[in-house]
Amino acid sequence: LLTLGLVAVGGYLLGSIPFGVVLTRAAGAGDVRNIGSGNIGATNVLRTGRKDLAIATLVLDAGKGAVALLIARHLLGSDAAGAIAGGAAFLGHLFPVWLGFKGGKGVATFFGLILAACWPLGLLAAATWLIMAFALRYSSLSALVAAALTPLYALLPLPALGLPAPQPIFIMAVFTAVLIFIRHHENIGRLLKGAEPKIGAKKA
Ligand code: G3P
Repeated sequence: LLTLGLVAVGGYLLGSIPFGVVLTRAAGAGDVRNIGSGNIGATNVLRTGRKDLAIATLVLDAGKGAVALLIARHLLGSDAAGAIAGGAAFLGHLFPVWLGFKGGKGVATFFGLILAACWPLGLLAAATWLIMAFALRYSSLSALVAAALTPLYALLPLPALGLPAPQPIFIMAVFTAVLIFIRHHENIGRLLKGAEPKIGAKKA
């Protein structure tokens, strides 16, 4: 139990590194929290006009989730340990101690977690985001659809792809998807009003 507690704290600390804020500030691109939606994620970093920083934010925010999960799973040898570290990293991104617990919406970290937990499931999730984003150009809506479908993909009886996913991974997918929906309440409101900006548009 002590080990699992340490795993959770480690995951939380890793997940709480706000790469969007760190990178935009370091690059002299201002503080991402003062532009667009005010969110710290890659979608909003793109609104600074710096595509390179947006891609780096996406990769690093995804990577921190993946690393937390992989290290815990390797050290403790169980999917449950990986899912606990991953879930804690996700909470770290949403509620980072460094930013007064005002963090992001979790989408990039979610993809990193799912890819690390079960890569075919991660590819299905990412493909869902990409298809939605190419078709409709809304980052938030694409994330909501991908988050909603991932737990369902996790239940598919496809043994060749490692599915259905082990129960801890399924639980992690549901937990993170629910939090993604809660964190997108403003986006959902804007989508319903037809006021959500499309990917790359400056205003939010
Ligand atoms: O990854 C977060 C995205 O789904 C929405 O971001 O900045 O448009 O609220 P944003």
